[in-house]
Amino acid sequence: MYRLLIASILVLTSSITLAVGNADNGETLIAPCAVCHGTDGISPAGSFPSIAGQGSKYLLKQLRDIKNGDRPAVLMTGVLDDLTDQEMQDIAAYFASKERQKGASDASLVALGESIYRSGIKRKSVAACTSCHLPSGGGNNQASFPALAGQWPEYIEAQLKAFRQGIRANDGDGGMMRKTAMDLSDDEIAAVANYIYGLK
Ligand code: HEC
Ligand code: HEC
Repeated sequence: MYRLLIASILVLTSSITLAVGNADNGETLIAPCAVCHGTDGISPAGSFPSIAGQGSKYLLKQLRDIKNGDRPAVLMTGVLDDLTDQEMQDIAAYFASKERQKGASDASLVALGESIYRSGIKRKSVAACTSCHLPSGGGNNQASFPALAGQWPEYIEAQLKAFRQGIRANDGDGGMMRKTAMDLSDDEIAAVANYIYGLK
């Protein structure tokens, strides 16, 4: 009985290890990404997302979505074409293992941004961001909810606007993010993006 239990635990853990991807192999594949995302996943400018320390499941989902066209990313056209799914898992594991970017908020915008992030906007039925992205902004890798903390405000704003317009629509049939962003104004988006930049 116990032996059976131990054997099944071993099988379980080895399959989990396989699904996680091989970060060492991933490191050998990221040269084409480094111009825009940095060798350690910290990008040189806010028009490119920093991907260091992002959840591996979320990273892999984005790579698959970008590769098959479910998420538009014009600048990445062709970059993923020659990568296998296993190689994308390895790349995801590599960037997930790096330390996340750290930013600092502009104090004048923090109050509005914090209130939207923590409580949503009740009169517009905007959900609190904390419920999926966590109070820390660290996300939930098992659920593929991305970490946001420390991300460039310019990138966060662009994504919220893309969800609002439906240009980015890879958030599932329920449209979690399209619904959340639908009623946010440009000022509200700027404020919440600024708050997220300062989350650690
Ligand atoms: C020429 C610049 C460029 C190159 C090269 C590039 N990317 Fe990107 N990448 C972008 C931009 C810009 C976006 C954001 C697209 C958007 O939604 O507007 C992005 C988005 C992403 C995302 C989604 C991030 C998130 O937070 O959702 C991942 C993951 C990613 N890239 C990984 C890679 C990997 C891995 C490579 C190399 C195999 C690569 N990129 C090469 C510019 C680039
Ligand atoms: C019900 C859960 C849920 C809530 C509430 C939610 N999000 Fe999200 N968010 C998600 C999911 C899931 C994704 C990833 C979708 C995908 O797979 O591409 C996401 C993606 C994002 C992204 C893109 C991240 C990236 O790296 O490209 C941003 C920015 C974002 N959310 C901001 C917010 C903000 C700001 C709020 C609050 C106003 C919020 N979210 C509320 C679930 C949620």
